[in-house]
Amino acid sequence: MCGIVCYMGKRNAKEIILEGLKSLEYRGYDSSGISVLVNGKLKTYKKAGKLDELNFLLKNKKLNSNIGIGHIRWATHGKADDINAHPHVSYDGRISVVHNGIIENYSELKKFLKEKGFEFKSSTDTEVVSNLISYFYKDDLLDAVFKSVELLKGSFALGIISNDENRLIAVRNESPLILGIGENEFILSSDVSSIAHLTKNVIYLKNMDIVDIKKNYSIYNNRKKVEREIERIDIELSSPSKEGYDFFMQKEIYEQPDVIRKNIKSYINNFSIDLKNSFSKDEIKNFNKIYIVACGSAYNAGVVSSYVFEKYAKIPVICDIASEFRYKINFLDEKSLVILISQSGETADTLAVLRNAKKYNAKTLAIVNVYGSSIAREADKTLFINAGNEIAVASTKAYSAQILITELFALDFAYKFGKIEKKEIENILKELKSIPEKIEIILNKKSIIEDFSNIIKNKNHIFYLGRGLDYFSAKEGALKLKEISYIHAESFPAGELKHGTIALIEKDTPIVAISTDEKLTDKMVSNVEEVSARGAFVFSICTEKSKKIEEVSNMSFVLPKTIDIFYPIFSVIVEQLLAYYTSKNKGLDVDKPRNLAKSVTVE
Ligand code: F6R
Repeated sequence: MCGIVCYMGKRNAKEIILEGLKSLEYRGYDSSGISVLVNGKLKTYKKAGKLDELNFLLKNKKLNSNIGIGHIRWATHGKADDINAHPHVSYDGRISVVHNGIIENYSELKKFLKEKGFEFKSSTDTEVVSNLISYFYKDDLLDAVFKSVELLKGSFALGIISNDENRLIAVRNESPLILGIGENEFILSSDVSSIAHLTKNVIYLKNMDIVDIKKNYSIYNNRKKVEREIERIDIELSSPSKEGYDFFMQKEIYEQPDVIRKNIKSYINNFSIDLKNSFSKDEIKNFNKIYIVACGSAYNAGVVSSYVFEKYAKIPVICDIASEFRYKINFLDEKSLVILISQSGETADTLAVLRNAKKYNAKTLAIVNVYGSSIAREADKTLFINAGNEIAVASTKAYSAQILITELFALDFAYKFGKIEKKEIENILKELKSIPEKIEIILNKKSIIEDFSNIIKNKNHIFYLGRGLDYFSAKEGALKLKEISYIHAESFPAGELKHGTIALIEKDTPIVAISTDEKLTDKMVSNVEEVSARGAFVFSICTEKSKKIEEVSNMSFVLPKTIDIFYPIFSVIVEQLLAYYTSKNKGLDVDKPRNLAKSVTVE
């Protein structure tokens, strides 16, 4: 959350930083800003709103400088306005700082600095950092940074420049920061995506690393000079394009058949699963507990996949939300397997669980989209979901790919665990190969979904109901709708509604009822009748075999036939399109919904 780009070298810093911030917009878009040094003077510009506002402000400003720091913000402390935007310049105007993360002890530090006569303009935690550095600054910026960092608690990636020295200093603690090393130029960024166009040589900084850049760079940790390995990143970057779609989210929904095809090509060898970087049979036999831990949609994907472990490997799985799991007593030991699912690979809570699991000698598996991300690098094993760049804040293609890869891992696990026959896996994989075409059939039937979106777009509440695996799909459907359409959406196991929430059902309350499990169709039909009797308007997502539910629904969408474990991938396509059309028809910014960011790197 929040993105940093800092530059020192031979090019125009403003241009490089603005270009870099563009590719970090997914980390936040409440406000943005830059500071550059022009003839030894700090020039700082910042603006609330999307990056375009800052671009507009800087349009006719030449700013002849080749050293600067830039930031794109997702507000944690203080509302999103011009004053709270970064960079934050110290009270005496000498030090400018950009910050990603949270300074947990900022109020004590602020009190201390106020007693020393420092004044504050913003409500952010970051402003204490620039003032603290200024407090310690005599004639050596690095020394002042050392002293300041020793007092900071929390997570922070910092970029720092000063009026008094031609020097760029950066700090990394818990929040990611990567140093790109070019020819006589250096770039620091929260993500390789804004580095790769300048250089492919990078250093993934470690916690409490402090980088000091003058003509060359040095890295310190605990005040001692350290050497860090320079790695080559192997990503080709093309600027993201909507390729004719109205929004990135729409494009990403439509990319799902190809993402599944790509994963089939990567992980399926004829009719067997070949995950390449997975655990051996002996390692798998050693596990007696499986935990799947993630946040948001990634968590929902985990819950769906846990069903496959339980059904085929016959092993109980605990699925938990990372921000909860990290503070629980959870019995991790060397017989535990902890699976972390994360599109970005940088989600702070998920990363904390991974690090904690390692402390208890549990084995860790990351299921990740972004190469080079912290979770991908730190887990014992990593499986990539091959979804490509996901630009829209609402996860779509990453979600279905997360389900697929975790399910494949579960099947492979079950096989190595001796609980499933090869023949059964072959049958499942045979069905898997037909999934991309079947998704295309769903995508081609979008008009009914668009019609339903017009019915719900002005509603305040909607309920998603399902049983078994369909309840997990309901969770994702509700999340998708609320995050981009701002309609309050809640999911329930269909049998649970009458234990309280049915009190909210009144005339025309919209309901999405998901029913793909033939065994549970009659139960779902009864639940739909219960809400219909109270006036609800029901849109059902069903199959040829559960079509009975059509008769009691106002509208319905019949999915192509598949097996139980793949229906969640089908149901979610309908839900994603519903959320997309509702948001679009309300005239909202589908790709950048309010208050959200793509990568949540704070607790
Ligand atoms: C919802 C969404 C979020 C993410 C969650 C975890 O559409 O995208 O709920 O799933 O923030 O993010 P990752 O997968 O990057 O760890």
